[in-house]
Amino acid sequence: MGECRVCTGPVNEFFDFGRQPLSDAFVRKEDFASEFFFRLAVGVCGSCSMVQLMNEVPREHMFHEDYPYLSSGSAVMRAHFERTAERFLATELNKPDPFIVELGCNDGAMLKAVADAGVRHLGVEPSGGVAQVAEAKGVRVRKTFFEESTALEVRAADGRADVIFAANTLCHIPYIGSVLRGVDTLLAPDGVFVFEDPYFAEIVRRTSFDQIYDEHFYFFTAQSVRAMAARHGFELVDVEPLPVHGGEIRYTLARAGSRRPTEAARELLREEVDAGLADLDTLRGFAARVEDIRDGLMSLLRDVRGQGGTVVGYGATAKSCTVTNYCGIGPELVPYVCDSTPAKQGRFMPGSHIPVREPAAFADPYPDYALLFAWNHAEEIMAKETAFKDAGGRWILYVPDVHVT
Ligand code: SAH
Ligand code: TMP
Ligand code: ZN
Repeated sequence: MGECRVCTGPVNEFFDFGRQPLSDAFVRKEDFASEFFFRLAVGVCGSCSMVQLMNEVPREHMFHEDYPYLSSGSAVMRAHFERTAERFLATELNKPDPFIVELGCNDGAMLKAVADAGVRHLGVEPSGGVAQVAEAKGVRVRKTFFEESTALEVRAADGRADVIFAANTLCHIPYIGSVLRGVDTLLAPDGVFVFEDPYFAEIVRRTSFDQIYDEHFYFFTAQSVRAMAARHGFELVDVEPLPVHGGEIRYTLARAGSRRPTEAARELLREEVDAGLADLDTLRGFAARVEDIRDGLMSLLRDVRGQGGTVVGYGATAKSCTVTNYCGIGPELVPYVCDSTPAKQGRFMPGSHIPVREPAAFADPYPDYALLFAWNHAEEIMAKETAFKDAGGRWILYVPDVHVT
């Protein structure tokens, strides 16, 4: 049993993936012997219902100069963040001299539109390489981890923020109490803290167990977010389901009593009580389905290979690290994975050591099957790879179950 990083309550483990490497540590041959491993297991807090990893990886191991993930790697995500910026500009930032801070701004996918509009902004981004890409787009960045001390520095330099935004970042931060104290320090009295992350109810519904990896420390629900917010004087005032990354929720927190919670927030909180997301039965069911998916995927891949068929991976996602290492998929089953991210190409996938190649390698020649690791971008990818299907190729998916299309 662990101790909850939010409320110090007892955390009950419900799934153990065993020894796992760092999901975004794309390695060179000379790094194979020194790869970092830890025990990846997930549990739920018996007091505040926050779902969280049982073990924490030191943040400098994950987020550094060579962090390879680029938010702008997907056209759908670029459009999503442009729309997000436009919405903020038209609503919360529609006042004299507004100021927005983004935690984990990455390559500036969201803040670029804010910078282009001439609105005061700051990205806080510890991964130097991606922060530099944002700076090249005209985005102002502070290259550090956001926590309580950062908030004091930013407030002293720039004043309070009308909006603090974080996409796919808050769930990456085990020391979340320090972040919420920082938000309290930095946010204007009538400001909002808006964050969007994979929704645990969707992970259970789709059995998308590959959302569980080193960087994803927390798996939020409206219930657990509300309890966490209350500990810091905040209230959950709005929720918005988002279709991106396999199903997310955008949560809006405001200082308690400063805004009226929307009907959507109240409704989701009610729904979750009935869904029993934190119940042991629900979590045992999830665990059993994860094992079934592993067995089904492995027998499919072995059958295809046994009959002389070829399989190539599509999208060297962080999520794929859990799939390959938990299921035991190596280069003998999937000889390479294609990915559009320059920093991943020419390297090897963590743990499994499957080579990563450029997208052009996919058609050279087309394999019989493509294992879609980037299933959350399925629509975008299948639309651009129609020639693969026309040539007789088939996609293998494992979310929400193992199937071929
Ligand atoms: N917001 C982007 C990037 C998500 S990846 C998107 O949605 O696509 C997570 C990002 O959070 C990484 O760029 C990582 O460097 C950053 N990060 C990790 N810990 C952080 C912290 N304490 N403060 C700010 N950013 C952090
Ligand atoms: P993500 O699921 O964490 O966003 O990662 C998606 C990965 O897939 C990322 O490494 C970029 C890659 N990718 C492609 O190779 N081609 C594509 O068309 C898209 C959308 C993503
Ligand atoms: Zn707790």
